[in-house]
Amino acid sequence: MHIQISNLSFGYDYRTVLKNISFSLEIGDFLVVVGNNGSGKSTLVKCILGINPVPSKKVFLDGTDINDFKKWVKIGYVPQKMDDFNYEFPISVNEIMHVSKSSKVSEKEKLELFDRIGILELQNENINSLSGGQMQRVFIARAMINKPEVLILDEPTIGVDTDNVNRFYRIINDLNSEGVTIILITHSLQPGKANFNHVMHLHEGVAEFTSVSDMHEGGG
Ligand SMILES: Nc1ncnc2c1ncn2[C@@H]1O[C@H](COP(=O)(O)OP(=O)(O)O)[C@@H](O)[C@H]1O
Ligand SMILES: [Mg+2]
Repeated sequence: MHIQISNLSFGYDYRTVLKNISFSLEIGDFLVVVGNNGSGKSTLVKCILGINPVPSKKVFLDGTDINDFKKWVKIGYVPQKMDDFNYEFPISVNEIMHVSKSSKVSEKEKLELFDRIGILELQNENINSLSGGQMQRVFIARAMINKPEVLILDEPTIGVDTDNVNRFYRIINDLNSEGVTIILITHSLQPGKANFNHVMHLHEGVAEFTSVSDMHEGGG
């Protein structure tokens, strides 16, 4: 998916959080967003997703203004984990997946995805009984269920053990090489793991970009 952000500023109440951000991503790009707590990373993602209200002519997905965009099935999103995350009612992994799954995705494809993410054996578990890492995998699977064209992951590996972090990066890199556009927000930039090609550093709402080729040219 093609994503274009033009001079986007955004704030809550009187305080400006994002300051005049512009960038564009092409099909198959892999952007990593890094920055301190409170620098505006999650806010930016919520603007791209239409969760935060933005004025027209600021965010375009496949050329369509976010305010007119309807094809949400093309986007997979893993929100930042809440420490006290908890469903107010009992629901199984399978049930929560079916809430998100479009009818075009077959049962077989769903089970293949569960296997790939490593949650096949968790299908009938109550989501509230899962560990942090298991829960995170379920949310990653849910974001991927409709074979999205863009996958937006907000600090997805917090609380996930090393083996599963490595498995996570393998899956993300594979999807990216299959043409899925990836936006990954992370605290720890791990060049050996993620095959990203752009890095955005957010500092108090101001974005600075490095492309991976620039990093190589920089003498490192
Ligand atoms: N819903 C909200 N209402 C008011 N302020 C918010 C809201 N969400 C985030 N903020 C503030 O916006 C700033 C950026 O937050 P956030 O985008 O979550 O940063 P990051 O994800 O980089 O840690 C912080 O100062 C935060 O307190
Ligand atoms: Mg955040």
